Amino acid sequence: MVNLTIDGHEVSVPRGTTILEAAKTIGSEVPHYCYHPGMSSPAMCRLCLVEVEGAPKPMPGCVTTVMDGQVVNTQSEQAKSNRQGVLEFYLVNHPLDCPICDMSGECDLQDYVHAEGREHGRGREPKRVFGRDDFGGDILFYGDRCVMCTRCVRFMSEVEQDHRLTVVERGNRSVIDTFFDEGLEGTNWHGNIVDICPVGALVSKDFLHKARAWDLTHTPSVCTSCSQGCNIDLHSRDNLVQRIKPRENLDVNAWWICDYGRHNYEWMNQGNRLDEPLARVDSLSEASGWKDALKGLLDRVDGLDNVSVKAVASPFSSNEDLAALSSVVDALGGGDIVYRSSAAGDEVPLKGFPQLVRRKDLSPNATAADLMNMTRVGADDASGGLESVAGHDGIVIVLGDSLPDQPVDFGENAGLYIYLGTHDSPAASNADYVLPVTSHAESEGTFTNFEGRVQHFDGALQAPGMSRPAWLILGALSAERSSGDIFRCAADAFASVGKQVPAFSGISYDDVGSRGAVINESVSLTGD
Ligand code: SF4
Ligand code: SF4
Ligand code: FES
Repeated sequence: MVNLTIDGHEVSVPRGTTILEAAKTIGSEVPHYCYHPGMSSPAMCRLCLVEVEGAPKPMPGCVTTVMDGQVVNTQSEQAKSNRQGVLEFYLVNHPLDCPICDMSGECDLQDYVHAEGREHGRGREPKRVFGRDDFGGDILFYGDRCVMCTRCVRFMSEVEQDHRLTVVERGNRSVIDTFFDEGLEGTNWHGNIVDICPVGALVSKDFLHKARAWDLTHTPSVCTSCSQGCNIDLHSRDNLVQRIKPRENLDVNAWWICDYGRHNYEWMNQGNRLDEPLARVDSLSEASGWKDALKGLLDRVDGLDNVSVKAVASPFSSNEDLAALSSVVDALGGGDIVYRSSAAGDEVPLKGFPQLVRRKDLSPNATAADLMNMTRVGADDASGGLESVAGHDGIVIVLGDSLPDQPVDFGENAGLYIYLGTHDSPAASNADYVLPVTSHAESEGTFTNFEGRVQHFDGALQAPGMSRPAWLILGALSAERSSGDIFRCAADAFASVGKQVPAFSGISYDDVGSRGAVINESVSLTGD
């Protein structure tokens, strides 16, 4: 360890730590542009200048490593005035178009100028004009705003390791460009350059003009587009998910997410939701409420003798939902549970951070389904495989699979057919009970990723009508049948997962925290 003084505080940090990182340990944020913890440091923006006692000139904090006995001032008059000069230099060309810039509200330049910049600009010359460029994929480049930090170039060459971006020309004519108009189309991780561009020079076409940053609510969640389980934030407004951003978790995805996961969110906003429980009398008609629906359902079950259960689960359901389904099936006398999951042709690794891979399994929770002894069926496009369920004459339960490929006579022979979903489906038309459930974007819970890491998500959207989390509905049913406890909250439902499935028994809801906790059993995914 190295001991030094930063801004009057004694600090002890590992050898090799930079001053910029060491300053963070006492809560001192040194302005910086080109530095990013996930990439090399070229020390080219000079915005992180600090004063090191005994050094003959201001030092860039992002590349200067700490030394024993060093005395550093990041907030002294001298350090601030050095940075003020650098900031003024940036504003020579950067247009102050914050009111229309897509980055306004989360722009470092705005924040730094506000915190440390000159009160009034002295610029008289017209600013340079580069205009815009379509970089292909989801990226628009606003050249006038670029501060030439080269984070985007370094991301493509060091992290994605696909050298599509470069700096062309020199001096004040320097500009970021793609080679021979090749563009970013077809690359798999390029959305990250919008996140790491510290100003509004790179913007997402998908998000452009949708909302201002300060109008968005950020909700911690987990990507549901493959079994990697990247940590994300859902940015929502007007009860719609407007975009997805990565949430830092060095154990899973660091600062990155893939383009496929980033843009696969519109389904969370899809309308035409099931929003009230329906029970069949002559035809499917409205039930008076949850109490009546569940009571009627239990009466129907009581009228059935010794019937076997066949259930279809969804790998998009949470650990809590899947465990609750399992316990309902057990409470009804036991039976088989199957699930279907899409698989991609190939895995897509992020070469510069190889533990992050867009996994073959394109669902978030197939691992938990496997651990709960559910059987994967069907093809790689999540179709087929339900023949024995479709014509079953006992109890049929479907949770979360909207059965898009199934015939309209699905479940016709069932003694009792219960469909729990977010959307209606032709194959649900024979159901005796249709029960509306929330999506993961509307409720709290956990998923288990490909390596058995249990990760927590929160609800970002208000659930429609009378829809409820599946664990609440199924938990109420199994409690009635087995005189067990009623789950009052997601933590109760999670505790029951540990009681039912030994692999989860060593983890409490608190252990999961914001970084996840790995279950006490190695996992291998069916179909991988
Ligand atoms: S486009 Fe953004 S990330 Fe790339 S060099 Fe310019 S300011 Fe930096
Ligand atoms: S790698 Fe998988 S979990 Fe991560 S963002 Fe992409 S699709 Fe989502
Ligand atoms: S962040 Fe240190 S020089 Fe750019």
